[in-house]
Amino acid sequence: MTPLIDTHGRHIRYIRISITDRCNFRCRYCMPPEGIEWIPHEEIMSYEEFLRILRICVPRGVEKVRITGGEPLVRKDLCGFIESIKCIDGLKELSLTTNGILLPSLAPALKRSGLDRVNISLDTLDRDKFSFITRVNAYEQTIEGIRTALKYEFSPVKINVVAIRGFNDDEIPAFAELTVNSPIEVRFIELMPMGCASKYGDHEVICSQEIRDIIEERYGALDPVDYKLGPAKVFRIRGAKGKIGLIGALSECSFCSSCNRIRITANGHLRPCLFSDDHIDLLTPIRNGISDSELERLIEKGVELKQHDHGLCVGKPDHPYQGCETLMNTIGG
Ligand code: 5AD
Ligand code: SF4
Repeated sequence: MTPLIDTHGRHIRYIRISITDRCNFRCRYCMPPEGIEWIPHEEIMSYEEFLRILRICVPRGVEKVRITGGEPLVRKDLCGFIESIKCIDGLKELSLTTNGILLPSLAPALKRSGLDRVNISLDTLDRDKFSFITRVNAYEQTIEGIRTALKYEFSPVKINVVAIRGFNDDEIPAFAELTVNSPIEVRFIELMPMGCASKYGDHEVICSQEIRDIIEERYGALDPVDYKLGPAKVFRIRGAKGKIGLIGALSECSFCSSCNRIRITANGHLRPCLFSDDHIDLLTPIRNGISDSELERLIEKGVELKQHDHGLCVGKPDHPYQGCETLMNTIGG
């Protein structure tokens, strides 16, 4: 097996596939209230086209696949797709990122299809703030979605919290508290200045270190947990059942050096980096009848485009905070 290695020596082990740009929420940092101009249906990759790419990448050392959106649970026939991905020899983990609202009804079928894990986005534990940030009154359904995910043992269930000063900074201890008696991992993500989030300023970003300080003030020193894959730093409150992840997308220098992922968008663009508009169109050549070996070369080319780092670091004079146009719902975080 020849691994997929980028020009900076990072081994690609993880692919995120965004299967739709549609979403039933309108989170303020992600989408405008009226939605966006959706990708036309005929330009959305079919499940078979995604599978073709995965069947090339998994034998090259990709061991983890995550399905994202938009909201992936709004796409039809997802369970059959999950079953097919799980049949790819060598794949170790298949997970999905969701806003959770459809989990109460879909979790049993997802479990039967072989989905291993879910990450659920939840930025507040307050019903009114939830309606404000998502622009949808669905707090109860989302909480029920988290309960259902725990019941069906998508282990470990992870909760993604985008930290925004003036919105949920006062809830950081309450989110951390959730990990004490429940085997979940609460992951605090630094707000990234892309798409609709470009309107937020430097002062609204809460850096991972500050989040850690807030939690440690309440619970004492956090114990680091040995966790190798990916850019999250993982900790545990002493004696807690669950874990706390800190995703310092902007503030952690090690974030990019530990990046082992590529992304495929719903319209078949391979994106080597979340923060860059560089991409390689795989869909057009696939529909024009490209061979498997040519497709593999194109994927290698996409991996080679991975830049050393995103250059968006917060608080460093040589790296001023800057926005970027990319809309998060088209790349899936
Ligand atoms: N900054 C940080 N996280 C974001 N997400 C979406 N937009 C942003 C942003 N601008 C998160 C979602 C979801 C994950 C896929 O990405 O909340 O949990
Ligand atoms: Fe990797 Fe690009 Fe993200 Fe940095 S910004 S972690 S290089 S995907």
